[in-house]
Amino acid sequence: MTEPRFSQQQREQPEPSEGSRPVPKLVLSVIAGLLIWAVYYLYATYNPMPPSLGDNRVAADFAVPVSADGGQLYTAHCVACHQANGKGLPGVFPPLSGSEWVSAKDPGVMIKIVLHGVQGPLTVEGAKYEGLMPHFHDKFSDEEIAALVNHVRTGFGNSASTTDARYVAQVREETRDQATPWKGDEDLRPLLRSR
Ligand code: HEC
Repeated sequence: MTEPRFSQQQREQPEPSEGSRPVPKLVLSVIAGLLIWAVYYLYATYNPMPPSLGDNRVAADFAVPVSADGGQLYTAHCVACHQANGKGLPGVFPPLSGSEWVSAKDPGVMIKIVLHGVQGPLTVEGAKYEGLMPHFHDKFSDEEIAALVNHVRTGFGNSASTTDARYVAQVREETRDQATPWKGDEDLRPLLRSR
């Protein structure tokens, strides 16, 4: 290499070269400390925003309302005994098709049967049954029972009036002390006569 001839060349710094110095432990530990602090900070300050900070809507407000499907409930909970065509099994499971209980003027009769079940001699369309109809008060909401009752009262060849969740809620409240199934004709027959 020849001697630099110009003063500008003499002023120049040597080319930089990469050193072999590792990142100082102190810097590494500060970075690690920051990471740990960041995780702790996220954890310590986690605050599920109260809806009052926004426009007061909660997750449920965005849900698409799903209305109860009587046909689906029937298939899931009643078909095993009362059969897909609602005609039951002769001598074992009474028919819902054409039944005086189902089509009673007051839909409350069927609501009561579905809420609390029946056990004991029950006459349906002139035939005697003595089985056990399970209760559903703890399985179905008022809306579900209304959908189910409407499905049965207007299907299977029946054409009785429909009901709604409010009426189911009222019947549920009126019969809340009923801890056992209705005793067949003995408990239920008077309901048909009274309306
Ligand atoms: C485990 C079998 C079983 C299931 C499940 C069942 N039932 Fe019943 N149900 C019966 C029996 C048995 C009787 C008659 C009770 C008696 O003899 O005292 C009956 C009676 C009835 C009656 C009054 C009599 C009639 O035929 O009209 C209605 C109404 C009724 N069930 C509706 C339903 C509905 C609605 C469901 C579904 C939510 C349902 N049942 C599920 C067995 C069942």
